[in-house]
Amino acid sequence: MERAVVSIAPVPGSPAVPLVAGLSAGEFERIRRLAHGHFGLDLKSGKQALVTARLRPLLARHGCAGYNDYCDLVDADRSGAALVELADALSTNFTSFLREREHFEYLTGEVAPRLRGRSRIDVWSAASSTGEEPYSVLFTLLDALGEDAPVRILATDISTRALAAVAAATYTAGAVLALPKDWARRYFLRGNGRWEGWYRVKPAFRKRVSSRRFNLIDAPLPETRFSAVLCRNVMIYFDKPAQQQVVMRLADTLEDEGVLFIGHSESLTGVSHGLEYVRPAVYRQPGGGSGTWRRSPGQ
Ligand SMILES: C[S@@+](CC[C@H](N)C(=O)[O-])C[C@H]1O[C@@H](n2cnc3c(N)ncnc32)[C@H](O)[C@@H]1O
Repeated sequence: MERAVVSIAPVPGSPAVPLVAGLSAGEFERIRRLAHGHFGLDLKSGKQALVTARLRPLLARHGCAGYNDYCDLVDADRSGAALVELADALSTNFTSFLREREHFEYLTGEVAPRLRGRSRIDVWSAASSTGEEPYSVLFTLLDALGEDAPVRILATDISTRALAAVAAATYTAGAVLALPKDWARRYFLRGNGRWEGWYRVKPAFRKRVSSRRFNLIDAPLPETRFSAVLCRNVMIYFDKPAQQQVVMRLADTLEDEGVLFIGHSESLTGVSHGLEYVRPAVYRQPGGGSGTWRRSPGQ
């Protein structure tokens, strides 16, 4: 059936106060299915208040009379823009520099030495949020291997709002001055004037991080084989089948002995994969010869 493209630009004159009151069980179920079907998000019952708070501004902006109206708009939008906006609204972007420090110690102590001397080093931050994770990885590897090491980070996320922050690479003085090893001076420029109180990653390091939108559930995988993939603190929002799908897909992008990092509060129990357990929240693609999960030709 031919579907209309619906403009999701703000509607001039749309009411400042939403017309919408509560979210019925049927409406919640409809939103739950949209979020699960498109982004793998598992909106458990009890999340009604969160959904209401996050979607209410969108309903007001589009002048929707209720959540069903809003779902109709998302369903009818062939451009995908409404889904991007929904993902932006529902995603939880909390992150911080050097979050889960054990992973960065492992990068320094175990991963970096194996990569020394390579002509190219690729790492993927697969749910990068606003950039603290990919920049933490970059600075950790440059500390270990030298600033000229050919490290490239791919930062992807489903949220365009988060990705805009990766590209801007501008963080508060509080966050940056708490970083170790003189990172503020080596890797950041200090803002002044209207940027007083902010720090921005120097251009030479910004250009080593490329950002793009990527849905972990179904976007075509990058061709690159990565030495490390970080997919941390996002699978907690997915149900088991979605976790299974994501882990299999990510494992497929790891080079032999490449490492997958997941969040310490996440678990791959009940998820099949061909990776070796290394330590909590760290898995490794076995070296050549062992069983691995690979795309078959033509897939
Ligand atoms: C809580 S943040 C975690 C950020 C970072 N990895 C960390 O551990 O600090 C989760 C991120 O996953 C992203 N996300 C959620 N669903 C996604 C999906 N289906 N595909 C890609 N990213 C997704 C969200 O937009 C959000 O930025």
